[in-house]
Amino acid sequence: MNFEHKVVWIIGASSGIGAGLAKALALHRAHLIITSRDYTALKSLEELVENRTRCTILPADMTDNAGLPQVVERAISIHGHIDIVIHSAGVGQRSAAVDTQLAVYHQLMAVNFFGPLTLTQYLLPHFKRQGHGHVVAISSMSGLMGFPLRSGYAASKHALKGYFETLQVEHTLDNFYVTIVSPGRIKTGLSLSALTGDGAPYDKMDKGQLNGIPVNECVVRILKAISHKKKHVIIAKSEHLLYLLRILIPSAYYRIARRRGLQADN
Ligand SMILES: NC(=O)c1ccc[n+]([C@@H]2O[C@H](COP(=O)([O-])OP(=O)(O)OC[C@H]3O[C@@H](n4cnc5c(N)ncnc54)[C@H](OP(=O)(O)O)[C@@H]3O)[C@@H](O)[C@H]2O)c1
Repeated sequence: MNFEHKVVWIIGASSGIGAGLAKALALHRAHLIITSRDYTALKSLEELVENRTRCTILPADMTDNAGLPQVVERAISIHGHIDIVIHSAGVGQRSAAVDTQLAVYHQLMAVNFFGPLTLTQYLLPHFKRQGHGHVVAISSMSGLMGFPLRSGYAASKHALKGYFETLQVEHTLDNFYVTIVSPGRIKTGLSLSALTGDGAPYDKMDKGQLNGIPVNECVVRILKAISHKKKHVIIAKSEHLLYLLRILIPSAYYRIARRRGLQADN
């Protein structure tokens, strides 16, 4: 894996998978730009990463549509170019569709879909001018199949996968790569900030989340996929089996997903 001197912009770097990627990429001597809303969390991360001089903090809110063009300009201006952008910003959901307010759907789409889409649209001309670029989209197994209590989350991740897979198929730029990552449960705090039906945070660490794949293992597999310019990688345990059932024996998928997904604390 050679990330040395590569300029890597990580959005959603303040915690979880994004923070894990930042720490690992710093060890690989990449030049990092780290983004999320929380300046204090980004500052603590900057203090942790290997060789802080190669790490720049760029706070931004993915839902601030009007401000995103300037964020992209600022990101490019830091080193004069960007080699790899990793979209890891995301928000989860824990509510049945029937109990979910429309505003929650808008928020999930804004962070999980329109944020990465908007930044990528602004970056494409830059990648075209410089003759190369690599976009990494952290989607989800919920971007491949529905799962109870995730109607808006699954919709946003299906949209994300649809957009990035189409970029892969269009293939209009040379030396331009898109890697879509579909994780199952990873052991992060995603369920803490997940939105409930009225938009309040779920504020609990799910059993499913607690028993998820460790962040470090997920990070190693993501970096390997980027290095090999993989189009799609699944990083999951039982969710992978559920997805295979979805393809091979759909009736079993509907039965098992419903039973497992509606269990409390999952
Ligand atoms: N953990 C899992 O089980 C799992 C499974 C499948 C997919 N994923 C995906 O992996 C990605 C990372 O999630 P994670 O598990 O690492 O959870 P996490 O620790 O909660 O990380 C989410 C990141 O998104 C950032 N973020 C949230 N809203 C934002 C906004 N409006 N603008 C900018 N940044 C925002 C957060 O930073 P601030 O709060 O500082 O803004 C944080 O850095 C997400 O896209 C998630 O959907 C996770």
